[in-house]
Amino acid sequence: MQPSVIFDLDGVITDTAHYHYLAWKALADSIGAPFDAEANEALKGIDRMASLRWIAARSARDFSEAELAILAERKNAHYQRLIADMAPEDAFPGVPELLLALRRKGCRIGLASVSKNAAFVLDKLRLTELFDYVADAASIVRTKPDPEIFLTVAAALGTPPAACVGIEDAAAGVEAILAARMPAIGVGSSEILGRANLVVAHTREITPEMIFALAASVAE
Ligand code: BG6
Ligand code: MG
Repeated sequence: MQPSVIFDLDGVITDTAHYHYLAWKALADSIGAPFDAEANEALKGIDRMASLRWIAARSARDFSEAELAILAERKNAHYQRLIADMAPEDAFPGVPELLLALRRKGCRIGLASVSKNAAFVLDKLRLTELFDYVADAASIVRTKPDPEIFLTVAAALGTPPAACVGIEDAAAGVEAILAARMPAIGVGSSEILGRANLVVAHTREITPEMIFALAASVAE
């Protein structure tokens, strides 16, 4: 049986991680919370409210739940303006080809993004049809690094976790994959993603053969 492949979206399929950064940075600046590249890295893969609480805790002010809800809405409105005009060309190079090659080889493909905008982005990239299952972020209770979202996608694909391979650009995401007892491919810097079984700099470097070899090596 071929492994099932479970992709993160932001920073793996397309560069929306940068748009999240721009929107969080503007929000953090507006409440006087320090926000730099390191803070951004810590928040990759973390859901909207948990990210906002992390940023708000670094501001000198206290915020009520009602105020936090307004701030979350403001960040999301900004993010949605940034993604409004996304198009198929915005997928990272090699992504449609990789998805098609995996399908041709009989793999099932899932998306495990905690972003409530994930389905919209996938549609804009016209990639929805290449996925067998897209997690509904609204029904995920625990954000990455909890394994819940990867386990939910594996169950929906009907594949035991050990026969899945997860692909992530975030340290929290790699931890979520490993906690789900799946092998992990990290996309980005090995300094940040060193816990993954394999790290590549760009998604375009990933091949079906690389995924199969990794799945086989952990199955031994
Ligand atoms: C994750 C991103 O995929 O989704 C985070 O890595 C983002 O940066 C999170 O905050 C939540 O996204 P959204 O679109 O639901 O606010
Ligand atoms: Mg990501």
